[in-house]
Amino acid sequence: MTTKPPDLHIAYSLKTPEDSRRLYAEWADDYDRMFALNEDYQLHIHTARAFGRAGGQGPVLDVGAGTGLCGAVLADMGVGPIDATDISAEMLNRAMRKDVYRDAIEADLNEGVPVPRNSYSGIVSSGTFTHGHVGPEALTELLRIARPGAQFALSINAKHFATKGFAEKLDTLVQDARIAQPSLVEVRIFGDLATGENKDDTAFIALFEKA
Ligand SMILES: C[S@@+](CC[C@H](N)C(=O)[O-])C[C@H]1O[C@@H](n2cnc3c(N)ncnc32)[C@H](O)[C@@H]1O
Repeated sequence: MTTKPPDLHIAYSLKTPEDSRRLYAEWADDYDRMFALNEDYQLHIHTARAFGRAGGQGPVLDVGAGTGLCGAVLADMGVGPIDATDISAEMLNRAMRKDVYRDAIEADLNEGVPVPRNSYSGIVSSGTFTHGHVGPEALTELLRIARPGAQFALSINAKHFATKGFAEKLDTLVQDARIAQPSLVEVRIFGDLATGENKDDTAFIALFEKA
C-alpha cells in the first residue's frame, strides 16, 4: 500500500541503496500514473529511440527498469528479448506485469548484476543515473555483462553528469579502448505538460559501444 506519492524532490534526495529500496517500494503502484503521466515524463522514450537509432539490438538489459516504461517502448519498436534489473522488487513486479520482459533480476547495480559476462548485445538505462548513489563506477559492471560490440544508451541527469565525473570516466574508457563510438545527446526529461521547478531539467544520453 502506498504511503507517500511519488515525488521528484524525494527521488533526487535519495542517498543510499536502502533509501531507493524503501522509497521505490512505496511508489511502485503509483509511479506510472502519478509520476510519469502527471509530470509528462519522456526520458524513457528518448532513451529507447536513441538506442534504436544507434542500431541497438537484443538481447537487451534495461538497468533500473523500474515499472518497465523503457522496456515497453523498446518492445513496441520490435527490440527483444529484454531483461529488467532493478534494486526494487516491487518496481520489478510492476515491470513484469507489462509483459515485455523475458526475465527480472533483482540487484543493486553497485554490487553487481548476477549474470555471466558477455550476456547482452544492448544495455539501456533511463532515469537511474540521477541524483543519488548510482555513479560512473557502475559502468565497469555493465561493461562486464555486455558483449563486445554491444550498444549502450544510458540516460544520465545533466547535473549528476557534471558533479559525478561521467565525462572523465567516459574519456578514460575511450582512452583505455574499452568503449568506442561515444556520443552524447542532451534531451529534456519532461514534456511540455510538466510543471514545477524541475520541468526543464535535462539529461545526457550517453551512446557508445563496448570495444
Ligand atoms: C526514476 S526510476 C526510473 C525507472 C525507469 N527506468 C523509468 O525510466 O521510468 C529509478 C529506478 O532505479 C532503481 N534503482 C535505484 N538505485 C538502484 C541501484 N543501486 N541498483 C539498481 N536499481 C536502482 C530504482 O529502484 C528505480 O526503479
